[in-house]
Amino acid sequence: MLKLLLIESDERVLSLLGNALSTDFDAKILSTFMAFDAKELIAHERPDLIIVRNQYKVDDEKVEMANIIMNHLYDIHSKIPVVVLGDFEFPSGNFEVLPDRFRIEELKRLIIKLLKITPEQLRQLKLPDYVPLAIQNFYLMESTSCDIYIKLETKTQEKFIKRINKGDTIDKAAVQKYEDNNVQNFYIKKDDHNQLLNQLLQQSLEKIVKSAKSGKGVHEINSDTYSISQNLIDAVGVTEHTVRLSNLAIAVMAKSIEGHSEVSSLIKDILENKGSYAYKRNYLICAVCREIAPLMEWGVGDQLNLQLEKLTFVSFFHDIYLKSESHLKVFSNDEVKNLDLEAGDLVLNHANMASNLVQSFPKTPVGADILIKQHHGTTTGVGFVENYSASISPMAIAFIVVEKYVSYILNYSSNDLEDLINRKAIFHSLYEEFKLPSYKKIVDILNKLSIT
Ligand SMILES: [Fe+2]
Repeated sequence: MLKLLLIESDERVLSLLGNALSTDFDAKILSTFMAFDAKELIAHERPDLIIVRNQYKVDDEKVEMANIIMNHLYDIHSKIPVVVLGDFEFPSGNFEVLPDRFRIEELKRLIIKLLKITPEQLRQLKLPDYVPLAIQNFYLMESTSCDIYIKLETKTQEKFIKRINKGDTIDKAAVQKYEDNNVQNFYIKKDDHNQLLNQLLQQSLEKIVKSAKSGKGVHEINSDTYSISQNLIDAVGVTEHTVRLSNLAIAVMAKSIEGHSEVSSLIKDILENKGSYAYKRNYLICAVCREIAPLMEWGVGDQLNLQLEKLTFVSFFHDIYLKSESHLKVFSNDEVKNLDLEAGDLVLNHANMASNLVQSFPKTPVGADILIKQHHGTTTGVGFVENYSASISPMAIAFIVVEKYVSYILNYSSNDLEDLINRKAIFHSLYEEFKLPSYKKIVDILNKLSIT
């Protein structure tokens, strides 16, 4: 099996290229955007070919990635062929260059040329009649250039049923429903595959080129990769800087959990479902907590960083046992009565269970278990308080208000949030709910961030 190493900072381009090349060349795709990881992958996985973006920004610093990789290959006397995406010059080595905005066919042609794949080998790599494409891609499309199918599998056969007609507008709510029902891919006829991939790829490449010109990092511009629109981010008053730091913190957290099987499989479920309600809520809680951090009494410097690390962790773990959106939207013991016994039990105990889970994990930031336990206002992690009290940790108080705020925000579409009247309605509800000074103080801070 061929191994291709993709080095690129834009997650969407990575996923589109990964999808296209793994199906077309039956290849194993390795990917990273960090130079260190790339060198490790080259040493241990020995890829047959490397595809690398010429340059991009990582946490505000420009990285000449193609240059780093070509120098590294020169140093280790490696002859692995390289395709560079975007203008690039280098005095020696086995490489080809594609323009910033390339078409998928051009990339495939170069791969065939560099790997000296014969027509006979190509025939063996024939695509299936219907090619899968991850469902998340369809949130970003206004309309489609070809018919879209879903796969129905019975014990004896698989059938492909047309669900979206060529040229139709894509109904994002309908896509969400499929995703909620665990549909991971839509299918496209193989003859349409390149065209649709190009449609998606051009959108992403356009953004990369624009962001390179504007000097902004690619990650924050592509916040829609995470199904969280810029409108939403703007409405809650989170800056681009905070978005970038949040993305980084989440990546660091995910890395720290690798290898701990129970914890990492639970968190993977959330991190890999970026369109889910759970992911959006956790992400926004994390970003908002970071945004308000400098205004809180959470310390400075390293001390503050430790607190932020804890909050990132708590944002993604506090509701880890609740999978369904309706369970995540329960905020009182009364609402639990509408659930069946098993679900009710889970909802009542989820804070305590999550707190116990993180205690079993050695890398949990200090105090995260207590915050998780108190995130519905009780000190036992069981049930919901009728009246909020000031006798829990100040950080838990901030977390409770932020979570409620974010859950209101997510009840609105991102367009509706642009309307000041809707944002004011949210704060009206928050002020009604949080009357104790220690809670109201947090509402005041959020209000200032959002409305002004
Ligand atoms: Fe919860």
